[in-house]
Amino acid sequence: MRHIKFIVPALVLLLVLSAFVWQRPKQIQYNPDPIEKRVDSLLALMTLEEKIGQMTLYTTDWGSTGPTIREGYTEDIRKGRCGALFNSHTVQFTRELQRIAVEETRLKIPLMFGYDVIHGYKTIFPIPLGEAASWDMEAIEKSARIAAAEAAAAGLHWTFAPMVDVSRDPRWGRVMEGAGEDTWLGCRIAEARVRGFQGKGIGNTDAVLACVKHFAAYGAPIGGREYNTVDMSERYFREYYLPPYAAAVKAGAATVMTSFNDYDGVPASGNRYLLTDILRKELGFRGFVVTDYTSMNEMVTHGVVVNEKEAGELSLHAGVDMDMQGAIYQRFLGQSVKDGKASVAEIDESVRRILRLKFALGLFENPYKFCDEAREKRVVFSAENRDAARDVARKSVVLLKNDKNALPLAKSANIAVIGPLADNKADLIGNWSGAGDGNACVSLLEGIKKVCLGEVTFTEGCEVEGTTRGGFLRAIENAKKADVIVVAIGEKAMMSGEAAARAEIGLPGVQEEMVKGLAALGKPVVVVLMNGRPLAIPDLDKRATAIVEAWWLGTETGNALADILFGDYNPSGKLPMTFPQSVGQVPIFYNEKNTGRPFDPNSKWTGKYIDMPNAPLYPFGYGLSYTTFEYSDPKPNKTAFKKGEPIRISVTVRNSGKRAGEEVAQLYVRDLVGSVTRPVRELKGFRKIMLNPGEAKTVEFILNDEDLSFYRRDMSFGSEPGDFEIMVGGNSMDTKKVRVTVL
Ligand code: BGC
Repeated sequence: MRHIKFIVPALVLLLVLSAFVWQRPKQIQYNPDPIEKRVDSLLALMTLEEKIGQMTLYTTDWGSTGPTIREGYTEDIRKGRCGALFNSHTVQFTRELQRIAVEETRLKIPLMFGYDVIHGYKTIFPIPLGEAASWDMEAIEKSARIAAAEAAAAGLHWTFAPMVDVSRDPRWGRVMEGAGEDTWLGCRIAEARVRGFQGKGIGNTDAVLACVKHFAAYGAPIGGREYNTVDMSERYFREYYLPPYAAAVKAGAATVMTSFNDYDGVPASGNRYLLTDILRKELGFRGFVVTDYTSMNEMVTHGVVVNEKEAGELSLHAGVDMDMQGAIYQRFLGQSVKDGKASVAEIDESVRRILRLKFALGLFENPYKFCDEAREKRVVFSAENRDAARDVARKSVVLLKNDKNALPLAKSANIAVIGPLADNKADLIGNWSGAGDGNACVSLLEGIKKVCLGEVTFTEGCEVEGTTRGGFLRAIENAKKADVIVVAIGEKAMMSGEAAARAEIGLPGVQEEMVKGLAALGKPVVVVLMNGRPLAIPDLDKRATAIVEAWWLGTETGNALADILFGDYNPSGKLPMTFPQSVGQVPIFYNEKNTGRPFDPNSKWTGKYIDMPNAPLYPFGYGLSYTTFEYSDPKPNKTAFKKGEPIRISVTVRNSGKRAGEEVAQLYVRDLVGSVTRPVRELKGFRKIMLNPGEAKTVEFILNDEDLSFYRRDMSFGSEPGDFEIMVGGNSMDTKKVRVTVL
């Protein structure tokens, strides 16, 4: 006790010194990891309430992306009860909020601002499922790069993207936000998007933190119904659902968001196996984990905890660092510490993870680093960004049908433009369109009018939904006078996305009926589909002369589509998700297992439907061009390989048509005998190649041991010797194959 008079001044001195250290980083020359030191120094100054504040994320009143369970946020900022905000953007708005944090709070810790910048901030690119159809990693990275640059210029630090949830169920509305059904393609796209968002590094004023979501397995709700239970074997999870999250983490994603669903009976936001054992220990994730919107609170409704306080404890122990909008940590975590149900050490660890990124962003040096009006004005919605959006949009279009070479259209054609989406703008930016302005979109009609030299008429004909047929007559009259009919139909933006599961996935309303009437005229009918998910449209496929899958292409929709329709750009997109014939075939995906009774048309006792074929309407990887391509047989460098030795496969692709065009040559592998059953084909590589008419190019694919690996019977990951079929072609169902042996 007699040392007390020394201890107190020593502690005071320590505190003063530590404050000095974190406020004056430049003077720390001896520390190999200045951020770590500064985080610790700051942490030492914080009260428990302030620490919990850093673990709390609230929405502003600028947008609503979930149920409203609480209001207000400025007082929370002032009191240090919230360290991050979302739905907060623009330099003007974020600067004012930041000012409160750094001028009016005790410790002046800057705020971090997040937003759902999913496919563009203001310049809106195609929806992610559409971009995935480009199979063009450079284009996808560039789109994310531009989205990040715009977002960062508008005061943002953090985007809630990429969504990397694999999904095999087009009823689930959120398929529009992902990369489709394939794990391997999903991994490549996840990496590209993380690279794009985070650019050359966190802290640059043209980059934002990425947030990989939704961890985990959110894309597999039973029945495709939003927020439903997910139940799958660990093998299935690890093999098909986990890899894209792992790829994004490996690419350096700074943050991860939990999912709403339960996994193996435990909601993701309280699932320690997912968030700590897999994410941190196995995948080596070092950033912070945020819940999805109130998903911590929803654990009470899931029925795994009795109240919100317990929910917070479960989340903290599981590894959740930040509570999005639930206010559970803020309201209960202090009490949990008092009750001995949560430890300060766990809280410190979470706060450290969050502060590290705030330091890395450079916010302590300059909290207004991302608040530069001149930059905002220069970068956001620039002509250059719009040009890039037009290019990515053209690359995302998939030509599904083109009978009698109805496309491209002659610029001199007289065109009847018909359909509820033809002169629409608001829906073209799709769901999750950030700060995008529908009115700033180029509609299809506008795009056509700019290029077409013939007469262009327009009538809506019908609505997307509803049963009104009053417009049919005028549509038919216009169509009669034209050389060709272009019909824009599909879904409204809010019909895909979150909370937009559909049990029927045909075209809504009377749109298809209208096309039936138009097709009866015997003129070419070019259907332009605008939608956020694969649709079941077998009748439309029979009636339309040509079908162009345009998804929701974003700001530059009309210009990009005009480029395609009039042949200034040759479509090269390929489907990242299977289009079924009927919702009854769902889930339907290309990499199925053979089963013990694979389909045989001559045998009753095989795996099939008695009322429809097994085959999809359009398979994974499918898409036409205005030219045609021929493939040689794939040629391996030899036929027998030692385990681990790279397998080189070459194939020659020839443009056998009359136009230059790009082809996505796809490589699939089948392990013929494994210790567990293997899919009949799995994508393991692709090359996008440009070919002039008559030109041929030989491309080489290299398969490494990892490409042949899977979770073996004992759940270890690796390859097994034996025979493999290697298939190459222009889509998953149209390939040429060769067999190799691994000894
Ligand atoms: C969605 C997330 C989104 C969050 C914030 C949730 O409802 O599931 O994907 O990032 O809201 O807007």
